[in-house]
Amino acid sequence: MTRIVYVNGNYVPAEEAKVSIFDRGFLFADGVYEVTSVIDGRLVDFAPHADRLDRSLGELKMAWPVSREALREVHEELVRRNGVDQGMVYMQVTRGVAEREFTYPPSSTPTSLVAFTQARELVDNPNARTGVKVVSIPDIRWKRRDIKTIALLPQAMGKQAARERGAFEAWMVEDGHVTEGTSSTSYIVRDETVITRPLSHAVLAGVTRRTVLRLMAERGIRLDERPFTIDEAYAADEAFLTSASTFVMPVVEIDGRRIGDGQPGPLTRRLREIYIEEARKG
Ligand code: PDD
Repeated sequence: MTRIVYVNGNYVPAEEAKVSIFDRGFLFADGVYEVTSVIDGRLVDFAPHADRLDRSLGELKMAWPVSREALREVHEELVRRNGVDQGMVYMQVTRGVAEREFTYPPSSTPTSLVAFTQARELVDNPNARTGVKVVSIPDIRWKRRDIKTIALLPQAMGKQAARERGAFEAWMVEDGHVTEGTSSTSYIVRDETVITRPLSHAVLAGVTRRTVLRLMAERGIRLDERPFTIDEAYAADEAFLTSASTFVMPVVEIDGRRIGDGQPGPLTRRLREIYIEEARKG
């Protein structure tokens, strides 16, 4: 089946979708994005994704390309047209098409919006049964990681390094502490307490993180929001990561060191179950 994608107001077959070589996303990575998961053909947590998009756009003085309601409609229409039961909707907004100048074009220049779906089994993910391996790498990114920009080369390099070392994800380390994964939030568990870094400019405010922390609070699961070192991670009882594309994913090995007994930990498994149950409620 041909994938139908969205480009600036039009739904077109993927191979017909075109953007200008003068688009600032292409020339300057001057754009922001969101990835929203889909379960049972429904969007998961669309509202907080839209809120984070609003913040990313605001920090970069970029205008919304369409209204919030229209953006939701684009997401839902893509899911419908592509018959997606499970997977993701990717969307990006760029500062539009302009002559190549570093400074921003006039605010009257329309921002561009493209979006597409990626069908993928998210709930019954074999990685979640076995857990995944992680390696640590230096965090070489810029200092505004709270903005979800499409400038992802450090993350692509990091994920590639992880794959080459037989791992699923790379955890980035700065000043001795883990910041986050290349495309996920990092957590460890010690004495039945979940430890994760507090929000700041150093990390992206994960939408999955937000939901997981709320579900934990509702169930009285202890949280310690503080930076942790990679050595603490090696010695943790459990470790996991979260993102829209993985939900809660157990981590069973970091830099070749087994975490706990090398199996997905009980608290991690419980959080994954709770999260999926919540996401399915819609
Ligand atoms: N990445 N940290 C980084 C650097 C990320 O890129 C992501 C998400 C997260 C988790 O955020 P959320 O829970 O809102 O998905 C944390 C998406 C999935 C991606 O780039 O594909």
